[in-house]
Amino acid sequence: MKVAIGCDHGGLNLKASVQEVLSALGHEVEDFGCHTAESCDYPDIAVPVANAVVSGKADRGILICGTGIGIGIAANKIAGIRAALCHDTFSAHACREHNNANILTMGERVIGPGLAKDIVTIWMATEFEGGRHERRVEKIKALEK
Ligand code: RB5
Repeated sequence: MKVAIGCDHGGLNLKASVQEVLSALGHEVEDFGCHTAESCDYPDIAVPVANAVVSGKADRGILICGTGIGIGIAANKIAGIRAALCHDTFSAHACREHNNANILTMGERVIGPGLAKDIVTIWMATEFEGGRHERRVEKIKALEK
């Protein structure tokens, strides 16, 4: 899959780990920054990653900041984005199965690279279940109109 990734300064190290995991799994990664530890604003990264997903340029996105919260709030302002904050493996598969989450967010100040690797691996491998969940996701989409 093509995966757009991005972070602010608070997620720089975890983004590097995630990039390694995605490449090892055989995914194509496009990195939207940031690329240095200099302080930056997470909405400036969330929007291009979200646009890459919505436009179909990327199949999915992964966004990382200090908490995973701010960057996810920003991404969810873009119509068509369902960004899910996951710091456990149950949420990682549930947000794909039930919510068809197209962006995963995590916080480098919350979890380490080992857990992030498991979360990313599970999230990338899990498909949307559809069925009754499709109806609910459609109702979310209707809120965007
Ligand atoms: C940056 O200091 C921090 O606020 C940001 O990475 C993120 O945690 C915001 O939600």
